Amino acid sequence: MPTVILDNGASTIKAGILGVHDHCPRVVPNAVVRAKADNATYIGHELANCRDFTSLRFRLPFEKGFLVDWDAQKAIWDGIFSTEVLAVNTSEASLLITEPYFNLPNIQDVYDQFMFEEYEFRSYFRCTPASLISYGRLFAQQNLPPPECLLIIDSGFSFTHVVPILNGEVVWHAVKRIDVGGKLLTNHLKETVSYRQWNMMEETHIMNEIKEACCFVSEDFAADLETCRARPTANPIVQEYIFPDYSARRPGRIRNPGESLDESTQQTLKMANERFSVPEILFRPTNIGLDQAGLSATVAASIALLPEDLQGMFWANIGLIGGNTAMPGFRQRLTSELRSLAPIECAVRVHASAEPILETYRAAAAFAARPDFASRCAVTREEYQEMGASACRRKFRDWKPAPADRDQQQQLQSATGSRGARGKARAAGSSTSDSESSAPEGRDGGSPPPAQPTKKPGRGRGRGRGARGGAGKRGA
Ligand SMILES: Nc1ncnc2c1ncn2[C@@H]1O[C@H](COP(=O)(O)OP(=O)(O)OP(=O)(O)O)[C@@H](O)[C@H]1O
Ligand SMILES: [Mg+2]
Repeated sequence: MPTVILDNGASTIKAGILGVHDHCPRVVPNAVVRAKADNATYIGHELANCRDFTSLRFRLPFEKGFLVDWDAQKAIWDGIFSTEVLAVNTSEASLLITEPYFNLPNIQDVYDQFMFEEYEFRSYFRCTPASLISYGRLFAQQNLPPPECLLIIDSGFSFTHVVPILNGEVVWHAVKRIDVGGKLLTNHLKETVSYRQWNMMEETHIMNEIKEACCFVSEDFAADLETCRARPTANPIVQEYIFPDYSARRPGRIRNPGESLDESTQQTLKMANERFSVPEILFRPTNIGLDQAGLSATVAASIALLPEDLQGMFWANIGLIGGNTAMPGFRQRLTSELRSLAPIECAVRVHASAEPILETYRAAAAFAARPDFASRCAVTREEYQEMGASACRRKFRDWKPAPADRDQQQQLQSATGSRGARGKARAAGSSTSDSESSAPEGRDGGSPPPAQPTKKPGRGRGRGRGARGGAGKRGA
């Protein structure tokens, strides 16, 4: 029986089949995208067929870090299970899927319903990304088991979470969230550039590429700022990014030093202090008015909540996952700031992944390959049929909200309930109404959890077939 693994991120889904894609999962955009150039709609993996990325309009299943648009999500999952990507018959497969930290219980119920009732998986396991990391290679040392105490920093698209793990279990009361993720960083860069140079407000996709190509984390912010101020045009930091030319099939890239340009066809964007002032938000959220501690102080605050005799082990076993940690200088800056915050007798070690976006998927594959995954961890279809959602609640080691949190959630849900209905009205990829945005990188800062899930799958409805008909569980 094949085991499907989905690291279901808010920006991309890392998807594969155990034993087939263990090191190289397919990375599928978690979006339904409307392209202006050809007026076509691309669902998830289909975006690879798009040739002109100008003024794309995105519809994202995730909003403020939580899955709310189930129609869009289903269409993207259908594509992934279809012959075009994984070619898997879901009713003959097992599934491991990641979910957001602090996922709401009613959203978790919809995950479970989807997997058992819509896709009819034989068995299924749901957990947060950080809880899988100890099974992967991030902390691997020859002939040694993973450390008992780990502190994972997951800086992805929606947020940045600091997640302590003790003996394989998330220590939930010490988990911290900073409301800064790649989404906010791209958005901030887009606004800065639009104010200073070109109007890029409709060009989220291109600005995201520029961010990934040019941005770095400064190891000395004040000194780098001064370098850019003293010699605005000729300094070692400034770069020029040559915009893509889709009609000539030329992707965007950084201009080589001294390279001459054809001014009639090649336009450039100057990236000077934007290169490091944008990532700086992660370390100083107050720079943009967010009333939150920066990453290093958040790590220290999280460790302070852990058992005192174990704190030294957490300082020594910090691991980085998530796309933002790929930025050059991230690990060095964090290490030097943490060194000054940690007790003098503690060793501070930060483990970075060469491919932080794939780290969770690879750890998930190692976890799913263990003999006890199927027998002890996953919930079977029969168990679900017998006990319903409580089968999953009992077995999955996820977050259980305290009663006070539950009251707060209910208030938040009723306050945001009207927004949640929006996704229900539209079928995935069917329109470009006002709720679609050319700017999916809206700011998440300080926002409450989202509304109730927008749609619950009913038995027999659609049965895993995609919005476009071709996709579905009837893969090869
Ligand atoms: N080299 C890079 N430099 C800067 N940012 C990067 C780089 N590579 C990826 N990113 C950013 O990382 C983010 C995606 O990271 P990741 O894949 O970990 O998120 P996700 O799992 O989809 O989302 P989430 O974990 O929030 O649900 C995007 O915002 C992307 O722009
Ligand atoms: Mg992620």
